[in-house]
Amino acid sequence: QKGGYSTFMMKEIHDQPRAVRNSVRGHLDFDNATTSLGGLHMNPKELASIDRIQLFACGTSLNAALLGQYFFEDLAGIPCQVTQAADFRYRNPIIEKNTLAIALSQSGETADTLAAVHEAKRKGADLIAICNAVGSTIAREAGRGVYLHAGPEISVASTKAFTTQVSVLLQLAILLGRTKRLDRSQSIEILEAIDKLPEQIEEVLKLSDSIREIAKKYTDVHSMFFIGRGYQYPVALEGALKVKEISYIHAEGYHAAELKHGPLALLDEKVPVVAICTNKDSAQKIVSNIRECSSRSAPVIAVVSEGIETPADDSIVIPATHPTTAPILSAVALQLFSFHIADLRGCPIDQPRNLAKSVTVE
Ligand code: M6R
Repeated sequence: QKGGYSTFMMKEIHDQPRAVRNSVRGHLDFDNATTSLGGLHMNPKELASIDRIQLFACGTSLNAALLGQYFFEDLAGIPCQVTQAADFRYRNPIIEKNTLAIALSQSGETADTLAAVHEAKRKGADLIAICNAVGSTIAREAGRGVYLHAGPEISVASTKAFTTQVSVLLQLAILLGRTKRLDRSQSIEILEAIDKLPEQIEEVLKLSDSIREIAKKYTDVHSMFFIGRGYQYPVALEGALKVKEISYIHAEGYHAAELKHGPLALLDEKVPVVAICTNKDSAQKIVSNIRECSSRSAPVIAVVSEGIETPADDSIVIPATHPTTAPILSAVALQLFSFHIADLRGCPIDQPRNLAKSVTVE
């Protein structure tokens, strides 16, 4: 069942080249420079009429939703709001005309996300669900949407659901973008980058042993920070969530620009910082954040795309890709990093204490 791996989490990390390929199978339409997502059951006119998006989710799915916000705003020019599902349910959200509500859930059974689905329906929103579990309650209640096709995710720590959610949200942003401002050549560039992802994820997986060597240096720490900018900010949140969930080390994800607004006070030689830097255009900014951390004696581990140099103590170098697809590759690198830290600390990786795979109560 674990495919020769010691844990479901490691198996599922290694499932990702296939899972991401399955999440795009039959969807990439190079001739028309768009994507086709049949499960939406929306015609071109309906797609073009969407002028607001409301995403809701919990946990890792919420981090994927934050990336969706960047995609919808950058590629399609559609204002997008992301709300933690419980908050959506209780704060009397305003759903304007032509809003597309999107529920994001691996299991399709999360109680708060399901309640948010009911709330969105009650308010008359057009609703779709992006789920992994076929026939799950949220998928059924929404009645339309996109499946991730990632295969069963057993480990409590979500891995392949995140990368396939990001893949599907990006495909949806391209589809909506092509009805609005996304031009053909920009779209083709992203479609090509998506198409290459499975082989690039394989390259990241080959880094597992070298990531374990880096992880060995940080198994005794009590606290860690993850920082990123733009598309890598949600990945910083996700990296921190993975570490705290499976290794029981306190970890926080921050926008890199927020460091000087408080967290710098916590840094010293015992608090490592993981800095994600995959975009050449903003590299200098992350480099100065790395210097900020180093000058407080914090060890820095950089996750960088090939061709980007930083003054970090350790580097995990991942393949270069389009800025919209880079979060998938950096997320895989951080999944391996958190796995190795937890494994070296002897933690029960697939069944972390106090957690359940599916949170079906409020
Ligand atoms: O099944 P869902 O995507 O709705 O689950 C949401 C969260 O409970 C889930 O992502 C949780 O945060 C994971 N254990 C994180 O690895």
